[in-house]
Amino acid sequence: MRLQAALFIAACLSPAAAIYSDEVNHIDFHHALLGAPSPDSTFFLKPSSASNASLLYTISEKSIIGAVNPRDGSLIWRQDISRPGSATSGAGILRGLDGNNAVVGAAGDSISSWSAQDGKLIWENQFADGAVADLELLEQEDASATSASRDTIALTSGEGAGIVRRLDGESGKTKWEYKDNTGDVAFQVSSSPAEIFYISLQSAMLKGYRIKVTSLDPITGRQARQVVLNSENDIAAQDSILYVGANTASPLIVWADKSLKSLKVNVIGTKQINTIAIDNTSGQEVQQITVHAPHKLNSLPHFLVHYKTETGAWAEVFHVDLKSSVVTKAYQLPYLQGQSVVATNNIDANVYFTRVTDAEAIVVSSASHGILGRWNADVSSTDRAIHAVADVVTKGKSVAVRSAIIRDSGDWSLIRNGQTEWTRPEALIYTVAAAWVEEEDQEDLVHELEVEGHESLIGAYIHRVKRHLRDLQYLPDWLKELPKRIVTSILTDEVSNLDSFGVAKSIIVATEKGRVYALDTGRQGTIKWSAEVEKTSHWDIKAILTVPGSAEIYIGDGSSVRVNSSTGDIISRSAPTNVNLQSIATFEQQVGSSVIRMGSLGIQEDGSPVAPFDDITGFLVTTSNDGRVLGWVEKDNKSPVWEFVPPTGQKVIKAVGRPSHDPVASIGKVLGDRSVLYKYLNPNLVLVTAVNEQDHTAGFYLLDGVSGKVLYSVSRTGVDPTQPIASAISENWFAYSFFGDAVDESSAKGYQLVVSELYESPIVNDRGPLDAAGNYSSLHSDRGDSLPLPHVVTQSFVIAEPISHMAVTQTRQGITTRQLLCVLPSSNAIVGIPRPVLDPRRPVDRDPTSAEAEEGLFRYAPYLDFDGKWYLTHSRDVAGIKTVLSRPTLLESTSLIFAFGGDIYGTRATPSQAFDILGKSFSKLQLVLTVVALAAGVTFLAPMARKKQVNMLWKAT
Ligand SMILES: *[C@@H]1O[C@H](CO)[C@@H](O)[C@H](O)[C@H]1NC(C)=O
Ligand SMILES: *[C@@H]1O[C@H](CO)[C@@H](O)[C@H](O)[C@H]1NC(C)=O
Ligand SMILES: *[C@@H]1O[C@H](CO)[C@@H](O)[C@H](O)[C@H]1NC(C)=O
Ligand SMILES: *[C@@H]1O[C@H](CO)[C@@H](O)[C@H](O)[C@H]1NC(C)=O
Repeated sequence: MRLQAALFIAACLSPAAAIYSDEVNHIDFHHALLGAPSPDSTFFLKPSSASNASLLYTISEKSIIGAVNPRDGSLIWRQDISRPGSATSGAGILRGLDGNNAVVGAAGDSISSWSAQDGKLIWENQFADGAVADLELLEQEDASATSASRDTIALTSGEGAGIVRRLDGESGKTKWEYKDNTGDVAFQVSSSPAEIFYISLQSAMLKGYRIKVTSLDPITGRQARQVVLNSENDIAAQDSILYVGANTASPLIVWADKSLKSLKVNVIGTKQINTIAIDNTSGQEVQQITVHAPHKLNSLPHFLVHYKTETGAWAEVFHVDLKSSVVTKAYQLPYLQGQSVVATNNIDANVYFTRVTDAEAIVVSSASHGILGRWNADVSSTDRAIHAVADVVTKGKSVAVRSAIIRDSGDWSLIRNGQTEWTRPEALIYTVAAAWVEEEDQEDLVHELEVEGHESLIGAYIHRVKRHLRDLQYLPDWLKELPKRIVTSILTDEVSNLDSFGVAKSIIVATEKGRVYALDTGRQGTIKWSAEVEKTSHWDIKAILTVPGSAEIYIGDGSSVRVNSSTGDIISRSAPTNVNLQSIATFEQQVGSSVIRMGSLGIQEDGSPVAPFDDITGFLVTTSNDGRVLGWVEKDNKSPVWEFVPPTGQKVIKAVGRPSHDPVASIGKVLGDRSVLYKYLNPNLVLVTAVNEQDHTAGFYLLDGVSGKVLYSVSRTGVDPTQPIASAISENWFAYSFFGDAVDESSAKGYQLVVSELYESPIVNDRGPLDAAGNYSSLHSDRGDSLPLPHVVTQSFVIAEPISHMAVTQTRQGITTRQLLCVLPSSNAIVGIPRPVLDPRRPVDRDPTSAEAEEGLFRYAPYLDFDGKWYLTHSRDVAGIKTVLSRPTLLESTSLIFAFGGDIYGTRATPSQAFDILGKSFSKLQLVLTVVALAAGVTFLAPMARKKQVNMLWKAT
């Protein structure tokens, strides 16, 4: 009890603790992600003409442009150019040129130019006439170029019309435009030193497409000439064209015939088609052909064709004669088993090809087959390499290369001379579900303690003695470890030494692309293992549930997969059922300070459980797809016992219940005058949010989950249903946030954060109608009316920005002050607002009385400014967060936090400061030395003191 009292005092010390700068990267970690890089739009580039170091640029599948430091894989800048609702067709496009200070990206119908150095917006342009199909930066200088930034040639493709535009490099204004109304498919743009080519596909009479090349004057945009290539027998669809080059001395179009027997090469602008027979030496079916050519006006007109079969790959290098436009084969890179990816780059006019295979990385020059550099490499992985970009540097005769490899999963790694330098786990951006790993040993102890708690005093004592005797077998090992433990505990600081307190937890995450990862939150979120569990692009995960040793992933079609949580191996799979699940309900029970899961159950889209839950005593609250809230009890899955239908026009969008681990440290709130307000603590509370999109109202309803009775409701007006509405409930309070009218007469609209607290009675020291009752029932009682209604105290605050998701910090015993965790999508941050700040009993329009001040209340201000100290993410830019999880540790002061949905972010929150941990400044060594010194002093001085006393006795007598 004394310990608890001490903790109470500690909990009152400070309402909020900020993150100290030396804790950054120590207690928190952040994976700043882009998403799977788009192979065609990934490149090394010098960000400015003044620097020699290149950065790695890409646009991802999520239309995020990013610049990555090739040295360590850290993100230098990123910009999300995706637009919700715009016609985005496929991945975006990104182009850059050495010596140009900007990179230009396009997604959907907009083009934007960004400073390559720091990612600042230079200009942005949006087109009403269709999505951007292709983009090139003009390398050549001409009379109309006025500045250092190169002009952009953009092709938009809309309803039956392709438009080529030249956009000014500085302002993005259109210099000229060329419109093609023939109904051809706008395909690509390309440029050579003298001309700009618009390549379109003309539908042939019977089948297939003819390639039409229209040459345009770069300065005026006027059509110069037009060439139509007879390719209709080979080209059935757009993706039959393997390659269209740009920005080279001799831009090429490459395609293959339907049976992949021969390759057709045309130098753009000429009529001549070179046919090259494919040398099918491997004896295997060619699956994929890729063409690699340099992207520089001054580079040699050489290119490489890479042929991939089921099990291996080979490549051929070709030279183009500029005068005759004839293509000749120069040499071949041999067929090798396993993965193989090729990248090209050039230094001045020389072209280099880098080939990375399972066993080695080699660099060859395009001019001859001699290998300039060869390194042993290990890229073999179950995660297939699909594309590479390389940066070759030469020093005298030796070369060095670093290549960035894009893998099938979307992950990205850099290989420097065969060594993997870093891997960016981009696939984690697709995370849709996460769950903490349960550890076996702790679970056992919890179970044992539970047994002891339920036995008689003598029985429990015997059980405990037996348990300790059994534990003795670990004693020798423990003693052996002891000296090491003492030394490490003295030498290392506390913050890094808390792993045994449940602070270093693993978490299992699953992505919608079918991959499952285990991250170690105690080691900066490093990946412990990853596994491809399903080959899919949309894995409809409903939940991950963990038990000691394994994790089960539930899918919407009723199937599930069980994986080993320490290795990622698949243990078992269950087949799909014929019902579509809306969600997975779990039955959990709080035992002591831990939560035991009793069972789980699929919920169908109409809100009914798939099966009766006979073996579980409990109830279930579900939402149906037609916007009702339903209550269910065991042994019946046909009809709900109660139904909550919001007023006409309103649709239920969300229902939240109290977390299954929500311990209450005190059943009342002690006021300044030592009287008590008793908390209304109903474990079955459900907070339902319903909106009416026509008249812009939102209703918030507090229900009792067992009886379905509405305990409290409030309706708010002027609500914008397109803005996020978030809500959370814990202990005896709930909070919600929306954009709408303020509650008082001042008709100001804004983002509101509303907090309500529930008490048993408005009168202090009064327990309301239930008073001395030992038990109560939600359903029936002898008093007539079943459940007493709570006394609700509400206060609203105006906040500056929307909140997209809310959660509450959880600690072991609930003694620590809670924080309301809010995701702020517009500033890419997560704040933890301390509960005392959100106290609805804060005095309005007056200063607190001394009793109120003693209670910790301070004057209410309608505007809630997020204090810098509340930002759990401090200065990090944590983007795209959809869900925040919190979990208690064995330390009462500390709550683990994990956020996912876009970036991955994890930290530890100590809402009342780390009162049960020694601080970093506490030196154990110093303490030990002081004790030793004191002991030495005492041994030395004690004889002297004794002698002196004896002498004094002699003198006195
Ligand atoms: C870039 O490299 C060249 C030649 O290696 C050197 O002369 C120049 O100083 C370097 N510039 C910078 C900014 O490092
Ligand atoms: C290559 O050879 C294999 C075996 O001889 C054959 O099956 C395949 O069709 C050939 N051609 C291509 C283009 O793969
Ligand atoms: C998981 O894998 C580990 C290591 O191979 C093994 O010891 C353990 O028994 C496995 N767990 C389950 C539940 O299969
Ligand atoms: C609940 O309390 C009532 C009287 O207050 C008593 O009759 C009843 O047996 C109690 N029920 C349980 C389950 O303890």
